[in-house]
Amino acid sequence: MAAAPDAALIAKLKDIVGLDDKNAKDLSTKADRATAALDFFAAQGITSTSDRGVKVLLFSAFTKAKDNATRDFIALNVANGKLKSTQQLDAAVRATEKGVPTDLAAFEKACGVGIVVTDTQIAAHIRTELAKQTPASLKAAWVKNPGQILGQLKKIEDLKWADFTVVKAKLDELVPPIIAAVPDEVPAAAPAPPTGAAAAPPKHADPSDSNWAMAADFRTVQKGAKKTKLSEIAATPEGTEVFVQGWAHRVRHQARISFVVLRDVTGFVQVVFAGAIPPFHRETSLAIRAVVKNEPKAAASALQPPKELHVVEWAMIGPSDGDIENIITAESSPDKLLDQRHIVLRGDRAASVMKVRSALLRCFREHFWKKEMEEVAPPTLVQTQCEGGSTLFKMDYYGEEAYLTQSSQLYLETAITSIGDVFCILPSYRAERSKTKRHLSEFTHVEAEYANITYEDLLANIEDMIVDVFENVVRRVGDLIHHLNPDQLIPGKNPKDPSAWKFMPTKPFYRLPYAEAIKLCNANNIVNTDTGKPFEYGEDISDKPEREMVALIGRPVLMMQFPASMKSFYMGRSEGDNTLTDSVDVLMPGVGEIVGGSMRMWDYAQLMSAYAREGLDPSKYYWYNEQRKYGSVPHGGFGLGLERLLVWMLNLDSVKDACLFPRYMGRCQP
Ligand code: 4AD
Repeated sequence: MAAAPDAALIAKLKDIVGLDDKNAKDLSTKADRATAALDFFAAQGITSTSDRGVKVLLFSAFTKAKDNATRDFIALNVANGKLKSTQQLDAAVRATEKGVPTDLAAFEKACGVGIVVTDTQIAAHIRTELAKQTPASLKAAWVKNPGQILGQLKKIEDLKWADFTVVKAKLDELVPPIIAAVPDEVPAAAPAPPTGAAAAPPKHADPSDSNWAMAADFRTVQKGAKKTKLSEIAATPEGTEVFVQGWAHRVRHQARISFVVLRDVTGFVQVVFAGAIPPFHRETSLAIRAVVKNEPKAAASALQPPKELHVVEWAMIGPSDGDIENIITAESSPDKLLDQRHIVLRGDRAASVMKVRSALLRCFREHFWKKEMEEVAPPTLVQTQCEGGSTLFKMDYYGEEAYLTQSSQLYLETAITSIGDVFCILPSYRAERSKTKRHLSEFTHVEAEYANITYEDLLANIEDMIVDVFENVVRRVGDLIHHLNPDQLIPGKNPKDPSAWKFMPTKPFYRLPYAEAIKLCNANNIVNTDTGKPFEYGEDISDKPEREMVALIGRPVLMMQFPASMKSFYMGRSEGDNTLTDSVDVLMPGVGEIVGGSMRMWDYAQLMSAYAREGLDPSKYYWYNEQRKYGSVPHGGFGLGLERLLVWMLNLDSVKDACLFPRYMGRCQP
């Protein structure tokens, strides 16, 4: 069990170190680290009333410095007022990568120590720079690309530590009066091309001999270049000028060159900025016009092509705060990662899972449409239970008791007489008091219901759906599945070919009546984990033994005909043995149950006795019961947990990894 939060420690971390509530709580879970931070702050003489800016810098030194000696050295330079900004602190961390520097003058120079750039000085530097050209050439440059002038200013050593937003504001203020008197240039008419001559190829800036330009406004970067998705770069010929927009996924700034792995929602590509650029952090959003270049070494992963983009012109769309570097680290606990799920989702793994999930939903819908089924949307606020009272989420519904639905099944049953065979893909809710890799409080339930079918038809429908959906999802996103679960691909095969996957299920699945499953477990020393003994008929085969049993069989299993005493009230009974139900669970290797289904009780009187046995009030179900009163037919259906299917297909650690923002006991945010 997790230790209770240490309120006193959290309060100290907030008060002395200056952390916010969340970071204080997080650090308090690592007692050694929290004590080290407090000791460090005490050694620097920091108290609750010390300057907050200094606290921020010291905590940054605490987390980023290479070791204790460099940390103390940086702290000293914060205390004596030499390092005043995060920009300078980051420079200090870089300058102490090889240990405490011996050449203090070089260190201070590298960190811009003592360089206070006032607004007046910024204005003076800009004026000097602007005076180097005539108003006419300044106007031409300003009209063509104001960002280029800004870029030039950035290279002036004395402005290196200036606030860039002030530089830009001053530039916008100072240039217009200088160029106001210059008349607008009238462009000379271009000579007509000779008839029959081939059009000249578009002229591109050659990044090897010219630097990029930085535009002040990202809306001006595209010029004539084609707006291109990063997934299209692989097929774009070398030399083409493209316009791309994305986020800086990884950033490596060097003195004369910067490498940025850019991410858009379709892929990744390495971008090269020749020459020094103003440093920016990961997740900065960028607009870039660049030339495509073949570069075999750039293919760092299956999602990144062997190409580079060499920047011609670029602009920041939105900057990213420097604290992005500390939000998630290799040490972050699973809980912290879930607190920061909105950031984690930007990672290629989590985003790939979400894309496979989306493709899977599409394939389910396509399968049901192929079978001419209709999609419906039953209510999720209900007053009936479907899967037992113990997992009901109760709520106050305008003064009446209501629940979040456990399954849309009962409503789907009402739709088959009017709309046809139906399906829905909606959230279902279970107040599961367990935090296992397969239990959520809210999950995506794919449910279907068919009229006038037999038990055998139901089993065949389930098998058909799983195989069809699998083949199609592999055809769509086999490359992403391969990225996430490489071991399942037969080596050397095309991941978009369904026959290339070891996990591809084949029909018919292994059919295992419950009674046989009990015998199978007992014959193979798979014991009931609740009792520690061999299974007795009528006992539930829980998660662990279920997984062991499926591992033994090694392929998808249709576990059938559970005793009625173990299953929900609505399940139809087996012909010839009224104690059994025509029910089915689909069990997959590794994850266990992913589907639960059954034929439904379709006789009115039989259903009434089922309510009586379960102690349920039939009047609440009047709309369900009346299906049996007016032209009842045999019918059945099933529900599949989307997240469990993803765990199996992608070999995920938990159903939590298969949700955008998971909900389970103890978590209802973000
Ligand atoms: O077996 P279950 O409880 O069946 C029903 O709800 C039926 N009324 C469905 C129907 O016949 N229309 O749940 C069906 C599936 C399970 O096999 C599992 O995959 C998923 O729903 N499931 C859960 N997934 C994640 N977290 C939970 N707490 C889940 N409970 C069920």
